[in-house]
Amino acid sequence: MPKVVIAGSMNIDILSTMPRAPRAGETVNGDTVAFMPGGKGLNQAVAAAQQGVEVAFVGRLGQDAFGDQVESFLRSKGIDTGGIVRTTTSPTANAIIFVDKSAENYIVVIPAANAETSPEDAAKLEINAGDVVVSQFEIPRPTIAAVFARARQAGARTVLNAAPALDDAPESLWADTDILVVNETELGHFAGTEVSGDAPVAEVGRVARTLLRRPGQTIIATLGVRGAVAVTAETEFLVPGRPVKAVDTTGAGDCFVGSLCARLSAGDELETAMRYANVAASISVTRIGTGTAMPTADEVRGALAG
Ligand code: RIB
Ligand code: NA
Repeated sequence: MPKVVIAGSMNIDILSTMPRAPRAGETVNGDTVAFMPGGKGLNQAVAAAQQGVEVAFVGRLGQDAFGDQVESFLRSKGIDTGGIVRTTTSPTANAIIFVDKSAENYIVVIPAANAETSPEDAAKLEINAGDVVVSQFEIPRPTIAAVFARARQAGARTVLNAAPALDDAPESLWADTDILVVNETELGHFAGTEVSGDAPVAEVGRVARTLLRRPGQTIIATLGVRGAVAVTAETEFLVPGRPVKAVDTTGAGDCFVGSLCARLSAGDELETAMRYANVAASISVTRIGTGTAMPTADEVRGALAG
């Protein structure tokens, strides 16, 4: 059976909810605080595993209590953690997250152990034809480039979630990507232009098209509640979103990517997988947290049917 292979980040999210985020120099009272498993790599791995497919993970944690918490959480989700290295030279990474009353979030990430994830770590991964290999921009670019080069050699499909949009990546990485997933901000960043949150879909599609590097590639731009647009050399289509009452949108993009990869590895066509992933993401935003907010296959199927 094809599997989903993820090279990525793992964080403990220090997540606080509050009426509104503080301004510079200001103190506000928060409502809750929790220490929850997160990080884009972990979130995507959990989202994929919850859909019932096999998931293997590569990444680094510190030798500390947060690292133990993350590793046992991944195991509890049935994820293969054999590729995780517990480093002595950095602590487990954290993200500090504020979520306000309107479900808006503010995030600071401290990369720590994630920044040590090396091409050698990834070289131990077993990658087979038909696997879906996924990464995000919270581990070093050269590591992702090495994993993707191996994936393409093995006949696996590569999915790059170019998030967050902090800087650029080597040209070889763009070329080795089969499916690139970005939100409006990331799309604008990598296309060298501004794409606003309410840019017309046709405009989003036009900008996304400029990121195509070679035949066979797909660019997916996620548009929040509006859904997601896919662009290839030949086609362009919008898969509409599913409006819900959001309490925490953190990790919605990760839910989309992980669920998408799960359905692609199970053999779905792109459009079908995107419809599924959109519904999965809409469920995740109704829950506080990221890794713990990912819906199961039953929940997604129920929402798709309703
Ligand atoms: O995409 C959401 C994730 O980004 C959070 O879980 C946090 O860890 C940050 O890395
Ligand atoms: Na959430």
